[in-house]
Amino acid sequence: MTKNLRGDIRVGGDKSISHRAIMLAALAKGKSLLNNLSRGDDVNATLALYQKLGMIAATDNGSVECVSAGFEALRTDEAILYCGNSGTTLRLSLGILAGLKVDCRLAGDDSLNRRPVRRVIEPLRQMGGDLATAAADDRPPVSVRGRRLHGINISTSVASAQAKSAILFAGLHAEGVTSVTEPEQSRNHTEIMLKHLGCNIDVEGRTSILSPVKRIDGFAYTVPGDISTAVFFIVGALAMSGSELIIRDVLLNETRTGALDILRGMGASIEHESLRSQHGEPVGDLVVKSTSLRGFDAANITTARYIDEVPALAVAAMFAEGKSSFHNIGELRVKESDRATAIVDVVKAFGGSAELTGDTLHIQGGLGANTGKAAHLGDHRIAMMIEIINLINTGSVSGEYGDTISVSAPEFYELMKTLDS
Ligand code: S3P
Repeated sequence: MTKNLRGDIRVGGDKSISHRAIMLAALAKGKSLLNNLSRGDDVNATLALYQKLGMIAATDNGSVECVSAGFEALRTDEAILYCGNSGTTLRLSLGILAGLKVDCRLAGDDSLNRRPVRRVIEPLRQMGGDLATAAADDRPPVSVRGRRLHGINISTSVASAQAKSAILFAGLHAEGVTSVTEPEQSRNHTEIMLKHLGCNIDVEGRTSILSPVKRIDGFAYTVPGDISTAVFFIVGALAMSGSELIIRDVLLNETRTGALDILRGMGASIEHESLRSQHGEPVGDLVVKSTSLRGFDAANITTARYIDEVPALAVAAMFAEGKSSFHNIGELRVKESDRATAIVDVVKAFGGSAELTGDTLHIQGGLGANTGKAAHLGDHRIAMMIEIINLINTGSVSGEYGDTISVSAPEFYELMKTLDS
């Protein structure tokens, strides 16, 4: 039984950055060395997919060495490329495949095959891409027949880094300049990595402007720790009195740290140390001490900066004093599950009070220790949410959801064990 979380840990490599590192290694000519890649199933799906397209990958001492002959050489005889549970694998790869000499279909598991893809397909069609779903469906499988693409100037209707990145990846080998403007800034790892690799990309406000590249050379890259996993440990430490947790080498990119701002707004003691830039990404160590939290209205925090962290934030809100509100969370309905509804159901299953009013999630705090049983719906972040509530309530996790949590954080239970005191 764990009364508090005390220790010094590292979480696995950031999932978003790991996907992009593999894709860029496939687009690059020569050898790339990727350190601290996420070991999650989603990132493994990306690695397997690019191996099917001709990239050679070998794991050595925790690092992955990738060798590719570059964009023009990527092709496949496979009729179906399987993306598992991973929306990022599928959506970003559509952008890459649209301009390759391929004729194939991208599909996923039942959850992924229910998620919208029109946000990616429509812009790629405007670039000259030949992509189709069954009938008028807005979901995978998606068939792709590679074509020579041309750049576009586009404003997207949803702030989605996956849609933006697919368009930018397509623009890399298209004719002419591509520019994407978003309604709200989404995570900017694609832009930072492309710049780091010498591509001609500029960002002006919410617009990213990219010129095509002749060639990207193989590179070495170390992926920072995943803030989206770290946040579950942070919330556990905040809620369990006597906790003091250091989490090293965490990604602290502004487009991803909305949850830290919200938790600090709730009164949390979270400090960062050793702030540095790693391949253009801000990285640092976080020091978290237990604090009694108060409810918070996140109206002033851009939702895209914390969209993946709402399940963890909901736990903080359950145990805080007063009400918390998270606005504009409609996108949560089309994640690995309908996460908006799932979060409300989990909070209620543990005796808490939560409701959705349109696209706003309200949680009434003040919950004391309370056991419960909730469904994770096969969604890794909902499973971690349930386990953090179990931990706070009873001092232990159930340990039952390894297969689900391994989508993003196969290290989750191992790390929990190291913190057992
Ligand atoms: C991601 C972007 C976000 C996020 C997802 C990963 C990415 O999704 O929720 O977990 O790596 O680009 P959207 O682009 O759909 O908003």
